[in-house]
Amino acid sequence: MLIESGDAVATDFISIARPHRPAADRIRQALGTELAQLPDAATAGISGNLPEWVGFNLGLALTSARAADHAAPFPPTDLMYHTTGLQQDRDFAQHGADILTALSAASPKPLGEFTSILDFGVGVGRVARYYKGFSGRYVGADIDEPNLRWVAGHLPWVETVLTEPAAPLPFEPATFDGVVSISVFTHIDRETTEFYVDELYRLTRPGALLFLTLHGDQALNLALSDAEVGRLIGISPERLEQARGELANDGFHFAEQYTHLTRANYRYGTTFASQQGAEAIFGRRFKVVGFVPGAIHAFQDLIVLERP
Ligand SMILES: C[S@@+](CC[C@H](N)C(=O)[O-])C[C@H]1O[C@@H](n2cnc3c(N)ncnc32)[C@H](O)[C@@H]1O
Repeated sequence: MLIESGDAVATDFISIARPHRPAADRIRQALGTELAQLPDAATAGISGNLPEWVGFNLGLALTSARAADHAAPFPPTDLMYHTTGLQQDRDFAQHGADILTALSAASPKPLGEFTSILDFGVGVGRVARYYKGFSGRYVGADIDEPNLRWVAGHLPWVETVLTEPAAPLPFEPATFDGVVSISVFTHIDRETTEFYVDELYRLTRPGALLFLTLHGDQALNLALSDAEVGRLIGISPERLEQARGELANDGFHFAEQYTHLTRANYRYGTTFASQQGAEAIFGRRFKVVGFVPGAIHAFQDLIVLERP
């Protein structure tokens, strides 16, 4: 069954409830809080102290025009919404920070110490914007040209690469020692997932670490217990029940949805994988070195892989 839902894949993580005061935020930003001295974190970026860099992005950078110049810019609302379901700069910054913090907690080594990172499905840079100041190479790949055009024009530390869906990625073997892929394997079918498992294996170096998010039991249970969550991800209760059955038996369920990314050779939708299912699919090529259920907002799981 094809579920028609324009907004379905736009919403990835369930937004944390927090009050919005956009008018007050705009006024504060326009006035700017002039600061005699910015913290070191503002200039060191990802290469410095991570909690301070995150704190700077969620604090001063949102309230002072001068400080904001040291953080990354925000994408326009339409791109932000279509890619992440978010509409406020503050939420985009918070989600990016939450993801980065979860990656950092699960990573065997500091995030700033990788030398060559692929952000597979970079979107409009929710994570990439925090890599300002990175001493290595940061490549953002995506199949969505408007997203990539924005990243190329606004995040100069990101090398952008437009890729074709379900086609070989244009990188030499053993190019990367790190891969980040947030809310991408949550949308593709098993065959395409397996194709990318082989591709990611080819283009990573032995010892490389990969951080991928997935919808697992927590996301499914939340969608089943909260009709609003099911509606946000665009999956009917009947389909969620089917997903529950398939997760128990097979460890994987793909619900196809029609989106602007759907192509003749590329099915897109919402994907669920149990821990066992994910370990079977990704473990075919990689060593599973971590699995954090609900790592992102108690909704998406995080799987950490090491390239043998
Ligand atoms: C839900 S968005 C998440 C974007 C970003 N990772 C983030 O967390 O904000 C999914 C992104 O993956 C991209 N994408 C989907 N399939 C892809 C593929 N096969 N190769 C590269 N990018 C893909 C989409 O165009 C979109 O930008």
